[in-house]
Amino acid sequence: MNDTTTIRPTVPADTPILIELTRGTDIFKPMEIQALREVLDDYHAHARNEGHRSVTGERDGQAIGFAYFAPAAMTDRTWHLWWIVVGRHTQARGVGGELLRHVEAEIRRAHGRLLLVETSGMPHYDLTRRFYLKHHYEQHAVLRDFYSDGDDMMVFRKRL
Ligand SMILES: CC(C)(COP(=O)(O)OP(=O)(O)OC[C@H]1O[C@@H](n2cnc3c(N)ncnc32)[C@H](O)[C@@H]1OP(=O)(O)O)[C@@H](O)C(=O)NCCC(=O)NCCS
Repeated sequence: MNDTTTIRPTVPADTPILIELTRGTDIFKPMEIQALREVLDDYHAHARNEGHRSVTGERDGQAIGFAYFAPAAMTDRTWHLWWIVVGRHTQARGVGGELLRHVEAEIRRAHGRLLLVETSGMPHYDLTRRFYLKHHYEQHAVLRDFYSDGDDMMVFRKRL
């Protein structure tokens, strides 16, 4: 596979592919996959007109990942990275890093101040947490037992 990634706005036709890529990572729970479908449907219906953004990463004309990000309501230029996913077979080849740098650049252009990412403290998220640390996110808070008993929310942040 060609190693040039194109990053473009997410379109409605991407939805089934992005859901299958996300399911195929074996990281997310069924209810999270269902939530993603709703998030993408809402995005195309109205959220993108309210400031939410989603970008799709492509190689050789095929969608291989995406990132969804949005301003946090009632804050001064704080943003949330809601989702970032790279398909299982293209992980660890730099695509996630390219998507993350793209997200940060877009938020900076929008004068964003702070970017927050929430993830899980479970062992199967070890590589995900390493990914944020590698990109100079600071582990900022731990909400014990947030997702379920024993499954903490870890909040990472970066000043932009
Ligand atoms: C996290 C994720 C977006 C990173 O994208 P990626 O393209 O795999 O990452 P990159 O190639 O840009 O960077 C690799 C670095 O990320 C980390 N990493 C994350 N997932 C990894 C994986 N599956 N294999 C190897 N390294 C991984 C490592 O720190 C690695 O760097 P290192 O080897 O120097 O330590 C992607 O792996 C993914 O979609 N994972 C499953 C879904 C997920 O956890 N999403 C985030 C939810 S909060």
